[in-house]
Amino acid sequence: MDQFAGKTVFITGGARGIGLGMAKAFLSAGAKVAIADLSQDALDAAMKSLSPMGEAAAFQLDVRDRDAFARVADAAEAALGPVSILCSNAGINFMGPLAAATYDDWDYTLGTNIGGAVNAVQTFLPRLLAGQGARHIVITSSIHGVFTGAMAGVYATSKYALTGLGESLRADLADSGIGVSLLIPGPIKTDIFQHADELRPQGADTGAITMDPEEQHKSAIWRHAMEPDEVGRRVLHGIARNDLYIMTHKEYGRMLAARAEALQAALPDVPDDPARAEAFAVSGDSALYDAPAAKGRPKPPQ
Ligand SMILES: NC(=O)c1ccc[n+]([C@@H]2O[C@H](COP(=O)([O-])OP(=O)(O)OC[C@H]3O[C@@H](n4cnc5c(N)ncnc54)[C@H](O)[C@@H]3O)[C@@H](O)[C@H]2O)c1
Repeated sequence: MDQFAGKTVFITGGARGIGLGMAKAFLSAGAKVAIADLSQDALDAAMKSLSPMGEAAAFQLDVRDRDAFARVADAAEAALGPVSILCSNAGINFMGPLAAATYDDWDYTLGTNIGGAVNAVQTFLPRLLAGQGARHIVITSSIHGVFTGAMAGVYATSKYALTGLGESLRADLADSGIGVSLLIPGPIKTDIFQHADELRPQGADTGAITMDPEEQHKSAIWRHAMEPDEVGRRVLHGIARNDLYIMTHKEYGRMLAARAEALQAALPDVPDDPARAEAFAVSGDSALYDAPAAKGRPKPPQ
């Protein structure tokens, strides 16, 4: 993966879980990596494993804080050079029924997951557009950004938004030299539920269901979940291919097909109207979705 050597990568939520997995993969490929995270303890722990691997720097950042985002971007670029690859990955999960969700839950989840990604794009897009050479944006969405189920409503609302953000960015930036990929992880072995509890604003009212880590780690879904380091390697592979979607789990193919079929089946049963179809073509560009399929399925990197 020579193409990453010497590149500067900025990863939000980079101190733990998937973000840390990405940081390790980029460093292994010779990139310079800035990790930004709300948890200073997690940053300190992450740097112990990252520093021996290459040129890495850590920045305490709440991705909801726009001014701080700009300051940290300046500091990261001063330390490691202009950022060529942005990974907007910081996120929290909320599990529980919508009927139990409080305004605090909505603000916390949408503020972190959507607000954090919007701030990442607003901060770095002008810098990337002004940059040189190969550049890329990775937005971490989720399987719950492409289908949903019970207890996932608040989280899925935030992740569907990120799918829209990533796909729209890809369309906007098609001729800019900046690639865009949506990372769509299935279950990954991270403690995201515990971290969401730990980072929730003090005194917040919540209807979130608490996950006991011991129970969670004994569950079938955890046993079959993927290691974050493996996700990191897949992200580099996906960037190298300029994939629109970087998916981790083939097992969700059935759900994706079911959703696509449901959308098709809901189209009004009326004759085709080519003139209207032509007029409405401006609403979207099917090439955005056709091109990735033409490349064939990715093989997991060895
Ligand atoms: N773990 C999974 O199964 C899974 C599945 C699909 C999608 N995802 C997504 O992957 C991303 C990473 O999650 P993870 O599983 O690695 O969780 P994680 O908790 O291990 O890592 C997320 C990191 O983001 C940081 N963070 C949280 N809020 C922040 C804020 N306001 N500002 C800065 N940093 C903040 C946390 O401190 C943490 O270090 C998230 O966007 C998550 O929604 C995870």
